[in-house]
Amino acid sequence: MFGRSRKPAIKKKYARKVPSVMALKQHPIHPMLVVFPIAFLGTVFLSDVAYVLLRDVFWARVSFWLNLAGFGMGVVAGLVGVGDFLSLREIRAHVSAWSHFIAAVLLLALAAAGVWLRWPDPVAAIWPWGLLLSGVTALVVMVVGWLGGTLSFRHGVGVYGEKPPAPDAGEDAPAAE
Ligand code: HEM
Repeated sequence: MFGRSRKPAIKKKYARKVPSVMALKQHPIHPMLVVFPIAFLGTVFLSDVAYVLLRDVFWARVSFWLNLAGFGMGVVAGLVGVGDFLSLREIRAHVSAWSHFIAAVLLLALAAAGVWLRWPDPVAAIWPWGLLLSGVTALVVMVVGWLGGTLSFRHGVGVYGEKPPAPDAGEDAPAAE
């Protein structure tokens, strides 16, 4: 009435959808890949604890291979994430995208340090530095995953179903209908 819009008010914190560029048939590839570094790097700490408690060399080997595979898959997943980050200005407008990026680089640096530490002798590496490193790595995995979740579930990054926003649309642009 009297020229007022009948569009429902959308709270700013629930922003519109931002379809991913690095996608297969609109399904974003980065979330398909991040499960590997999250699972692998989050589990190194558990196999380190298993080695410390059981003194079975098997667990030291498990830690080494999880650390190596987590680093490799983390690099692959990170490169795909960087593809979306660089392609879409609307992603880079979010503080959580930059925090996620910085935390992910820290995570990959910790994973690389773990591989470097364990490579010469996976058993000797565990106590104390390997265990400390895998504990810190597991915490950083949680931070990276949380910030990635903020991008996807709060800011709608990677969610498809709408036309991409205009190139000059800022964070405060109205939601697409
Ligand atoms: C190993 C490192 C990384 C992990 C573990 C990780 C984890 C995640 C998670 C859990 C999500 C939410 C998606 C979901 O829950 O299914 C996400 C989304 C996202 N991440 Fe990462 N991430 C990593 C590296 C990076 C890097 C280096 C970038 C580049 C800036 C990046 C950019 C993004 C973007 C743009 C999204 C939104 C969804 C999409 O566009 O695919 N990520 N990430």
